[in-house]
Amino acid sequence: MTDLSHLDSIVDDPDSITEVVLKAMSETDDARLKQIVDALVRHAHAFFREIRLTDPEFEKGLEFVKAIGQATVDDHNEVVLCADVLGFSTLITLLNTADRTNRTPGALLGPFYRGNSPEYADGDSIVAAGSPGAPLFVRCRVVNTAGEAVKNAVVDVWQASPVGLYENQDPEQPDMNLRGRFHTDADGFFRFRSVRPAGYPVPTHGPVGKLLESQHRHPYRPAHIHFVIIADGYETLVSQVFADDSEHLGSDVVFGVNRALVGKFLAHEDGKAPALDVSGLYYTLEYEFVVAEGTPTYPTPPIK
Ligand code: BEZ
Ligand code: FE
Repeated sequence: MTDLSHLDSIVDDPDSITEVVLKAMSETDDARLKQIVDALVRHAHAFFREIRLTDPEFEKGLEFVKAIGQATVDDHNEVVLCADVLGFSTLITLLNTADRTNRTPGALLGPFYRGNSPEYADGDSIVAAGSPGAPLFVRCRVVNTAGEAVKNAVVDVWQASPVGLYENQDPEQPDMNLRGRFHTDADGFFRFRSVRPAGYPVPTHGPVGKLLESQHRHPYRPAHIHFVIIADGYETLVSQVFADDSEHLGSDVVFGVNRALVGKFLAHEDGKAPALDVSGLYYTLEYEFVVAEGTPTYPTPPIK
């Protein structure tokens, strides 16, 4: 038999392949990329050894990955949705924000963040004229871990409508409805007017929906408002504030609820609303965000 003993990258058995693959990748220039892909290969190989995937199961897994890619279009991101329902996004967010400071925990960005939302002045409404819903007046403050005001932070907000749809999912809503960009004032405050958002099911028309069904999981998120806060000298905070009285608060399909992120959506049955056109029931929400010193980053919008 030919002597092949000098060919040390030939793989003859399942035990030797991990080292061979790691060696093949060993010249990666980017040290962080190398660390990430090495760990991915080691953990994935260990997973395959433990689970003993059959060939058809492996093919099915690859088909699933292909299907989440194919279901991703300009206004829907099935890949992000998949990461969300498997808890990947929340785990990464918490690992990156749950330190010993008193900073506000992050919550996943989700698949519905859009860039270029309309710029508004402090106190403006993000509700397009004629859009229905119970009026909601939001007053927030951004401070640092020492409790000092963070002024001139850029704050992106977005939320679902009172029927639980984002504008990009709903032909009844005008473009960019219930989305807006604000700046904090000299005392760290920003305020806006909106309507109470409803909880909603995540999109279930694609492969992720089938996965949830096979796991007997409901697809709902509790009512919430998204915030991205970007300020010079601070780590960007991507988070959400949840309505304290919302259904599914204890069983969010994407695991985003954190006790520190539950806000009091106070109902006012009567009394003087902060706007002349409001009579009857309205809500207020006050929330303080604490951001940590660091370098800002700019999240990539998952949809256009
Ligand atoms: C959202 O909050 O917008 C969201 C997050 C994860 C999956 C679907 C929607
Ligand atoms: Fe959302």
